[in-house]
Amino acid sequence: MSNIFFLRPPRRKATLEQLSIKYFSISAPKEKISSSRDWYLRHSKDEFVKKSKTDNYRARSAYKLLELQDKYRIIAPGYNVVECGAAPGAWTQVISQILGVKGRLVACDLLSFEPVEDAVILPNTDFTLPNNQLKILSHFENEKIHAVLSDMAPNITGNKSLDQDASLILVYSVLKFALQHTAKDGSLLVKLFNSPNTNRFLNDLKKFYRKVNIVKPASSRKESSEIYVLATNFAKA
Ligand SMILES: C[S@@+](CC[C@H](N)C(=O)[O-])C[C@H]1O[C@@H](n2cnc3c(N)ncnc32)[C@H](O)[C@@H]1O
Repeated sequence: MSNIFFLRPPRRKATLEQLSIKYFSISAPKEKISSSRDWYLRHSKDEFVKKSKTDNYRARSAYKLLELQDKYRIIAPGYNVVECGAAPGAWTQVISQILGVKGRLVACDLLSFEPVEDAVILPNTDFTLPNNQLKILSHFENEKIHAVLSDMAPNITGNKSLDQDASLILVYSVLKFALQHTAKDGSLLVKLFNSPNTNRFLNDLKKFYRKVNIVKPASSRKESSEIYVLATNFAKA
């Protein structure tokens, strides 16, 4: 039977569910509905979501960076910092609070997001494009960067290996940028979807940074395959 037959409009009014089954032979996405409901329930009970509301952070992700900062002192007042994948701006809030008026923070995202005090924000900006990286650098007046942070995540397709590859492309574009513009002893913090390629990335980092570690903050959801890699003591490119 041809596809055209299946795509013919229904003679009688039908519910969306019936339509999907009859005309496209696809069952209604019950799993998706229940998993987004589960996500919502989990999200609304999540202690970090509640805390972010009282602490005035734009997202629970603020606590991932706060925890890592507490343990590893990645940022210090006076630093030049580049942040990739910043929307809605929770990390930007944290970084800007640490830097105060002394440091310089440039934060970009593909999406638009609200301004953050003492930060230069570049919304609607794809970090991977060379012109956008030049725009970021123009705010540092030829000074080197002390810390490059990326919480970028690709749009999830649901295909694990495609998503892992897309995440890897993002982290390599951050690494390439960092290698050219990081100050001696500077740091790199990137989010990555854990995959069989993680070790390759870690080995590449070890060529340029003296300390390289996988870090998974407590506030990163256990079921998530995201990991953070912290590379410090940049030696040379
Ligand atoms: C998990 S969110 C970041 C959350 C942020 N750290 C915070 O605390 O509010 C990941 C972000 O990466 C951004 N992103 C993905 N690819 C990007 C790209 N090529 N350039 C810039 N941002 C990108 C997405 O738009 C998304 O907003």
